Amino acid sequence: MSAKILDGKGTAQAIRAEIKEDVDKFIAETGVQPTLAVVLVGEDPASQVYVRNKETACVKAGMRSLMYRLPATTTNEELVALIEKLNRDETVHGILVQLPLPKGLDEKRILDLIDPHKDVDAFHPENVGLISQGRPRFLPCTPYGIQQLLVRYQIETAGKRVVVIGRSDIVGKPMAALMIQKGLGGDATVTVCHSRTVNLAQVAREADILIAAIGKPEFVTADMVKPGAVVVDVGMNRVERELVNEQGNLEKVSKLVGDVDFEKVKDVASWITPVPGGVGPLTVTMLLNNTLKAARLLVKAR
Ligand code: GUN
Repeated sequence: MSAKILDGKGTAQAIRAEIKEDVDKFIAETGVQPTLAVVLVGEDPASQVYVRNKETACVKAGMRSLMYRLPATTTNEELVALIEKLNRDETVHGILVQLPLPKGLDEKRILDLIDPHKDVDAFHPENVGLISQGRPRFLPCTPYGIQQLLVRYQIETAGKRVVVIGRSDIVGKPMAALMIQKGLGGDATVTVCHSRTVNLAQVAREADILIAAIGKPEFVTADMVKPGAVVVDVGMNRVERELVNEQGNLEKVSKLVGDVDFEKVKDVASWITPVPGGVGPLTVTMLLNNTLKAARLLVKAR
């Protein structure tokens, strides 16, 4: 049996259409255009693509996008000055500093400096604390997108065993935090696996919902998946593959693959996200959602 596809791209489009309507209504009511400032330091090619996607999505949703592209030679002091300026700017509602930052820049110091009311990534300790206590201001974009995907496909999470592979601050930890909360898309029993987990494959096989976020190409193999499990792949790994071309010669091609061996795992799982077209588009979508929320909060606080 082949798993059904959890269509992240289609779901993202549907949510973005809802957000666009809400943005239009918000602008008509308040005269305020939700604005996201995105800061990219350096030349990382993947980050450049992500940032461009965020900018395009913002504009399409009727929001304003301010892009700050800074050289890799930018100093901590220069970046601090920019963040402080954006914090003070009342026309800016969301601030996102694209990670990873180039070596030499103090990621923690920079992220801690972002006004928590403008922290649309939900990386600030104050926002992480609020999530942990079950009273979130913003929800982190990738875990929030995954939760929305499960909810919209009416995949039950209450009482289910969820196994998250990966303990990053961006995905693994906040994913676990969301799934253990009370309410729709939560109430799960969650295990987080990582590089020091003993018998990881065995733990993964206990999952009703398996979420792979470790950044290792095709790490999750069919034997690590319980038959009928729901598999969510957060991985975006660029790999070189050798293919035989039309002339019969070996050719190296660059390919995007997830953390899950899709071709094999789809024969075991009941539902699966593809890469690309799975989780990726949802991350950007929830960023739009958070930016609108930040604008609402700021207008309310005036
Ligand atoms: N780099 C990879 N994912 C993310 C994300 O969700 N937010 C930011 N700011 N940087 C990232």
